[in-house]
Amino acid sequence: MQPIEVRYPIYTIDQVELFAPGDFVSEETLDDLIARRPKPVPQPRSLLDFETTRADIQSLFDTPSYRIIFSDAKRNREVLDLLEKVELIPPVLASLDYFRVLDKYTYRHILLVMMVSALLARELLDAPPDQVIEAMTGPMHDIGKICVPLDILQKTTPLDMEERRHLEHHTVAGYALLAYYLRDPRGLAAVVARDHHERRDGTGYPRGIHLQDPLVEIIVACDVFDALISERPYRPQSYDNRTALDVLVGMADKGALDSRVVRALVSFNRQSHPHYKDCELSQERRGSPPANNLYQLRSDDDTSRR
Ligand SMILES: [Fe+2]
Ligand SMILES: [Fe+2]
Repeated sequence: MQPIEVRYPIYTIDQVELFAPGDFVSEETLDDLIARRPKPVPQPRSLLDFETTRADIQSLFDTPSYRIIFSDAKRNREVLDLLEKVELIPPVLASLDYFRVLDKYTYRHILLVMMVSALLARELLDAPPDQVIEAMTGPMHDIGKICVPLDILQKTTPLDMEERRHLEHHTVAGYALLAYYLRDPRGLAAVVARDHHERRDGTGYPRGIHLQDPLVEIIVACDVFDALISERPYRPQSYDNRTALDVLVGMADKGALDSRVVRALVSFNRQSHPHYKDCELSQERRGSPPANNLYQLRSDDDTSRR
């Protein structure tokens, strides 16, 4: 990968600075950092047995906007069984806890993206359970938001250019943090954190690459979907599911998202849950974005920039 120059510091949950403004993040600089990292490596612990995660996930199955997606108890059980196997090391769990206490939106978002990605990975990938589990640890994707001030994350008015840059920093920060914690700059979890705002057509950030990784693209689509249908600080009223899916179909049409993944999301939102291959995507746009949206979402892509 091309080194990425950072404009803001990257620090761990214990306030250890890994990169300062002007430093370059690359596989090589991370390898170097990892080699200097103190040992022993902390032992991973079960995600579901951490703090209130199990109960929080149980209650998220009842989220109104996810009612149809999570309408099949057997399928939900399978998601929980997979989540049961997810293990994370203590500093990563502590980062999740940071959001649980200080930024509920990000906490809830991380868990929901993880849950829906698991459903889609099962459906779309001919992947062994191990890979599906790996796909679910990936959605610690927003962990880099610990390096973005809370007043930017929770701002209720439009961000200025500098604030937006600081917010977008969460991708590179998350990449560095997960690479460092998991001692693997090439592993899926770190790559997801870095690339989850990239797009297939190269219109994303931080690098503007043409995304083409089936697992990452599942998380990308779930990320956009949840961002649309959830309340956000700058948009008290969320998109309804139909309008959100319209946006995703539009993004797939212009080549930004994987249409297979979008089709699967549409099928999970239908009561009858047809197989995604049989799920026709309507070209008709029937929904309308919410009113009083302070952020004034101008383009489809803008909808997922936070
Ligand atoms: Fe993000
Ligand atoms: Fe996200």
